[in-house]
Formats: sequence, C-alpha cells, structure tokens
Amino acid sequence: MINKINSLAEYLQKYQESVANPENFWEGIAETHFWRKKWDQVLDWNFDGPGAPDVKWFVNGKLNITENIFERNMHMRKDQVAIIWEPNDPKEKEVRLTYGELFEKVKQFANALKKIGIKKGDRVAIYLPMVPELAIAMLACARIGAIHSIVFAGFSATALADRINDATCNLVITSDGGYRGTKTIPLKKIVDDALENCPSVQNTIVLNRTGEDITMVEGRDIWWHDLIKDVDCDNVAEVMDAEDMLFILYTSGSTGKPKGVVHTTGGYMIYSEYTFKNVFQYSDGDIWWCTADIGWVTGHSYIVYVPLLSGATSVMFEGVPTWPDAGRFWEIVDKYKINQFYTAPTAIRALVAQGDEWVTKHDLSSLKVLGTVGEPINEEAWRWYHDLVGKGRCPIVDTWWQTETGGIMISPLAGITPTKPSLATLPLPGVQPMLVDHEGKELKGNGVEGILCIKHPWPGMLRTTYGDHERCYQTYFANYPGYYFTGDGAKRDEEGYYRIIGRVDDVINVSGHRIGTAEVEDAINQHPKVNESAVVGYPHPIKGAGIYAYVICEPLSDNELANIEAEIRSTVTKFIGPIAKPDQIQIVSGLPKTRSGKIMRRILRKIGEGDASNLGDTSTLLDPGVVDEIIDGAKVEVKR
Ligand code: WTA
Repeated sequence: MINKINSLAEYLQKYQESVANPENFWEGIAETHFWRKKWDQVLDWNFDGPGAPDVKWFVNGKLNITENIFERNMHMRKDQVAIIWEPNDPKEKEVRLTYGELFEKVKQFANALKKIGIKKGDRVAIYLPMVPELAIAMLACARIGAIHSIVFAGFSATALADRINDATCNLVITSDGGYRGTKTIPLKKIVDDALENCPSVQNTIVLNRTGEDITMVEGRDIWWHDLIKDVDCDNVAEVMDAEDMLFILYTSGSTGKPKGVVHTTGGYMIYSEYTFKNVFQYSDGDIWWCTADIGWVTGHSYIVYVPLLSGATSVMFEGVPTWPDAGRFWEIVDKYKINQFYTAPTAIRALVAQGDEWVTKHDLSSLKVLGTVGEPINEEAWRWYHDLVGKGRCPIVDTWWQTETGGIMISPLAGITPTKPSLATLPLPGVQPMLVDHEGKELKGNGVEGILCIKHPWPGMLRTTYGDHERCYQTYFANYPGYYFTGDGAKRDEEGYYRIIGRVDDVINVSGHRIGTAEVEDAINQHPKVNESAVVGYPHPIKGAGIYAYVICEPLSDNELANIEAEIRSTVTKFIGPIAKPDQIQIVSGLPKTRSGKIMRRILRKIGEGDASNLGDTSTLLDPGVVDEIIDGAKVEVKR
C-alpha cells in the first residue's frame, strides 16, 4: 500500500527525491503493487525525435489492474463496501456493493464478454448512465484485456458514432434509458441511430434501467440480464503488459475531431493511485465522493480506478445537484457521512446562486477535505465553499490535471500545503512543470507567467492518440520540442505556487467540459443556411465560459431569421450534444479576416468579453468595417 506524505517537510523532501531520481522514486511506489512479473527497466523515454513521443514505464512488467483492485485488497476488504450507489430519485433505494460482491459481478460479466467473443485488445464502447453496471462493465473489460472507450451519455448519436468508428469498436454496452433529474434519456434509441453508420459493431449489450419501450435488433442486441444468466464467476485475470492499452477516452483539442487519448495499464495504475491518498489524505474507513460523471476522465480515475485501487468506499451518484432541490449534494453528504468531497467549480457557482439555506439545513460535520477540478475556481466560489460548506475547517484542494495526464498533477496536499484561493499551488512529487514564453524559452524563477509545459515523463501520461500517433506528437510535443505542452497558461507566484489561468489554444472549458471551437463550428456549418461561423469562449457567471458563435448565413426570410438561432442550437445538439450548444448566437454579414483569409479570433474574443476598447492592431484586416458592425450587434454589452 502507498504511504501518504504527512508534512510539508516530507513533501519537500519527496519532491526533491522524485526530481533527482524519478526512476528510483516511481520504482519504490510500484513495488507496493501486485505484479505477475516485475519490470526489466523502469523508464524508457523520448519526447522528441523519431517515433516521439515514445514513453514506456515498467518495461516488460506484467500485471492486471483488476488484480490490484480485487485480489490485492480481498483478504482485508471482502466485506467492506466498495461502491455506494445513490440513485437519481431519492425515493429509490441505494445500492451498496462490497469488494467481495463487486468482484463476483466483475468476474461474471468478464466471462459473459468472453462468451460473446470479446478478447484482449478488442475495443468496447460503453454508453451508460451513472449506474453500478458502468463500473462493472469497465472493470470487466480491464479484467479480460479489452480496451474500454467510455462515451459520456450526453453525447449525440453522431458524436457516439464518430468515437465508435475511430476506435473500430466491435461491441457497445448501453441501457434502455437513463435518468437525469426529471428527464429520461433514450440511450438505446441514440445507440440505434449511431449504429446505422458503424460497420464494426457486431453486438450491443443492453441493461434494463428505465424499462421504456425499445427495439431489440435480432442477432445484434442482447439484454444484460439474459447474457449473464448461467454464467459463472470463476475468472482468472488476463496477464497484461505494463504498456498494453487500458482505455481510450476521447477529448477535444484545438483542431479537428476529438482525439482518443490512450492510457496504458501499469503507469496509469501506479500514478493515479499515488495521487489519491496524498492529495485527499484519504484514511481507511473514510467515505469518498467524487461527483463527476464516469464519462469524463475525473470519473474514470476518481470514482472507479483510484478509490478502488486504494481500498476506499466510493460513492457514485446518478442524478444532478439541483433535483429534487438544490440541497441534493448536501443531503447525500449527510446521508452517507461523506469525508472527502470532490466537485467542479461550475457546480459550486450554480449552488451559490441558489442561496445558503440549502447548505445550512444539512449536517456537514463529516466533511474533512473539499476538492475542485476542471476549471479555474474564482475566489468568490472558493470562499463560499470554504466558509459555508467546509465551515472554515476543511482544506480545499484545487487540483489541476487533464484527460491526458491520467491523474492530478498540481494540487495542494490537504492540510499539508498552505492554500491560497484560486491557486493549484505545487506539483505532486514526480511532476516537473515549467513555464515557457511563446518562443519556447523557459521562464525561470518566480513571479512569471507563461505557457505550462511538463519537462519529464510521469507514469500516468498519455502514450498516444488512438490510430494517429503523429497527431499526438503534433498536438502535445511539436510546439515546444522536448516538452509536453498542456494547452494551459499559468502563473508562478513569488512563492512558487501555480495559478492556472486557462487554455491558450482554441479549447473552451464550458462548465468544466472541454469543447473545441472547431468542433462547434463544424456542427454549426452543417445547417443548410449557414455559410461560415466562428466560435469563441466568453465569461459566463455559472459555466465559467460560455460559447459565443458568430455566424454568416445565406439571405434569410423574416420567418427564417426568427427561427435560425433555435435551429442552429438544435443542429449542434444533433452533431455533438446539448453541452456544446452556443449560449450566444450573433448573425453577422462578415468576419474579421486578414488578407490571407485567417479569422482574427482575438478580436471576436475581446468582443465576447465585452471590451473593444483595446482591439490591438487591426490594420491587417481585409475589411475593418466588419468589426464595428459586429460590435453594434453584439449579444453582450461592449465597451468601446
Ligand atoms: C482545465 C479534467 C484550472 C485546464 C481533469 C485543463 C483546470 C483542462 C483545473 C483539462 C484547475 C482542470 N484549475 N483549470 N484546477 N483542472 N483544468 O481533460 O484548462 O476534461 O487543460 O480534464 O481543464 O480538462 P479535462
């Protein structure tokens, strides 16, 4: 088991050790795990040069991550609750699965997957609501060495089909429907639509969750409960190489379609588990709750893999923070006596707006540590969280990381690192951040601001982007050769603490969800009346960033004009999903372009921010008049 750091002095010492000799450091941690065969070499790496990135941790080591969750923990945790599942509707009974029970279910489902021919290396798409079977399905895939690709159940049929095809999945695991607050989402229907364009899929497994009417396609679709009937629970885990793929998770970038970030077995396991006890100071017997959806990396790591590797009790919530009322989070904290609570700033801001009484009427005395992730937390939200939710006695860990990093990278260690509102503070041991200027020159010393890169590999980092290794190099390693480029800007203050400022590329963090502006533009451009569009982020009081779309249309009749905004929103919903719907749509006659035809997004961003007083050099614009027109028609108040 991993020992936790207990003091700031110990952190500083461990940090120094981890930088001076990373291989020794990580080897010491990996020794505490269960390996079928130890590695020959701790690390082999190359961030630049032929084949880059080429990163291998624990070379030739053999293991299975589920043996580290179950077999390793079983002797002491068989009867300990592993997952507490809280349903959407508080009137429905919760489910508690012990490590022993979860293990049986995972082995049985693993055997069921084998029964329909799924084997090591196959890609399995999972499109499920937040139900225990989602965790069971992902762990069963890992058990047999199939690579899961979980798609957030809010994505549309088109987005799902894109992801299934990119990874050529041969199986989709879904449910008839899913509940979210007052809504029922017809998941199977969405899968049916997606599968019209997915030739690689041979089967779907369908869980009965909502009981609504669905069509089962003969020969393709199998009910989960029928499939596991008469399947036994004897299962020996597939032996995986440390560098065998564990999962693919699609995420948005600056250009093109979302890319499949690939994580491998050994490094992801060692790194992500290491972060948990240190950042959150989890102790045996604590009840842990991460409110994310398993469709995003936070849920992969901090609802399923990491807490279970650590032998924790992990709460999984099917619903939303505001239903049946805005006290739902705090009611659940009280119900299960949650000790560590991990959520996103957007949820905090939404709850701040609902009033303090939703918090104060619940007993939150069990809380010890509060965490945030996904976007910068503004000082006001931080103070509310700290003072009202944590009653001033719970440290807040503002954790910076990414889908690509596998686990938390920069964060206070709860109760150990002195915190400051809205600062992610210091890197975890083993993480070597650096700031560079636009030319790629390292900015040394404190009190500097630049682009955040990472100097040295850490075990949990992505290895490639599925099916397109060159794209991985171009996206993360080409901009600043020799370093991993995060896409974020950051400031290192006088004390050496990091403050994450936000994305420096064309990615917007909307309610903590990563959305690429190019993807939204592509979706908008599918509308038959749209000629061109440009999308930027703009400050939004709850979501952090909202989506602002400037759209050029063909000549529209009055009637068409009256409906165009709603139609554009539904086009985006169809091609991506409701999370990418623009908040503001402005129909314009032109966009600010340079003579070479490049859109000057900087100008559109400034207008979206409501400040056109300092637009910088616009002399290279083809038609400077278009800027005034856009300011005049802006959807937000703009200072000139
Ligand atoms: C942003 C989520 C500020 C950042 C785990 C990053 C943050 C992107 C923080 C990754 C934080 C994440 N403070 N910004 N504490 N945590 N971000 O891949 O812009 O969904 O690049 O991973 O979220 O989002 P992703």
